[in-house]
Amino acid sequence: MKNAYVTGASQGIGKEFVRALAKNYNVILVSRTIADLNKAIAEIEPTAKGLLTALSFDLSKKKSQEDLAKILEKDPDFELLVNNAGFGTVGEFASLDLEKELDEINLNVKALVTLTHAALKEFKKKKKGYIINVASVAGFLPAPGSAIYAATKAFVKSFTEAIHEEAHPHGIYVQALCPGLTHSDFHQRAGIEKSKYPSFMWQDASEVVEESLSALRSNSAVCVTGTVNQGVVGLTGLLPRSWVRKGAGKFMDTSGK
Ligand SMILES: NC(=O)c1ccc[n+]([C@@H]2O[C@H](COP(=O)([O-])OP(=O)(O)OC[C@H]3O[C@@H](n4cnc5c(N)ncnc54)[C@H](OP(=O)(O)O)[C@@H]3O)[C@@H](O)[C@H]2O)c1
Repeated sequence: MKNAYVTGASQGIGKEFVRALAKNYNVILVSRTIADLNKAIAEIEPTAKGLLTALSFDLSKKKSQEDLAKILEKDPDFELLVNNAGFGTVGEFASLDLEKELDEINLNVKALVTLTHAALKEFKKKKKGYIINVASVAGFLPAPGSAIYAATKAFVKSFTEAIHEEAHPHGIYVQALCPGLTHSDFHQRAGIEKSKYPSFMWQDASEVVEESLSALRSNSAVCVTGTVNQGVVGLTGLLPRSWVRKGAGKFMDTSGK
């Protein structure tokens, strides 16, 4: 069996990627908290066909990004990468802690770019490989109240679409995955009140993963999951940009007004 690496693998969307990929791959799970990784492994192992291994890295740190990139480059069986680790912050940009905002860029953008670079170099030699970079519906919107998060996801989407075209002639499949509201701990970590959003807007992480892997088989460059999110993304392309900005700001508003 070949090896798949999933970052942010201990919970949420990452854990569901591990569960699905473990049917066909040995999966290396990466995140910071080793206890949570081991818990995820214990949960998934009974249904897994491949081996599951935990690697603890804080991918907001340059050294960790480089160390993991070296591991990918040295793994002869490396075939699939899911760059999923990411977090969001909410609030007016000027009032947020700058160090945390910069860490968000380090994790959501720099780690993803570093690992994508390592993966592409190896996959080009093998003329085969798969990369899923987790962006978001937020990548289609400038979002007042979540300016850095939406900007990081716009970067991931644009970067990944470009890489998709570059990689295609080498037999490498690259996808920007754009989920909308997905049940996980993400919102609690970001300080977002989940009950603010109606239930029809939410997907389960397993649905997101199923749609992503199905789209990967047909080498779709961008996978927007769920019909509601596809509708939202379609509208953003039709409405005046000022309406899109203001609408996204209302959507992100966590002040309770
Ligand atoms: N949930 C949504 O509504 C939604 C919507 C669109 C896009 N997304 C995107 O989907 C991805 C996964 O989100 P999720 O909802 O599954 O989030 P989650 O439930 O909060 O899980 C985040 C995962 O990333 C790991 N992580 C966080 N900081 C890390 C760091 N510095 N280094 C390494 N690993 C780190 C976490 O483990 P540790 O804390 O132990 O490191 C955890 O495994 C993110 O990129 C997010 O932006 C989510």
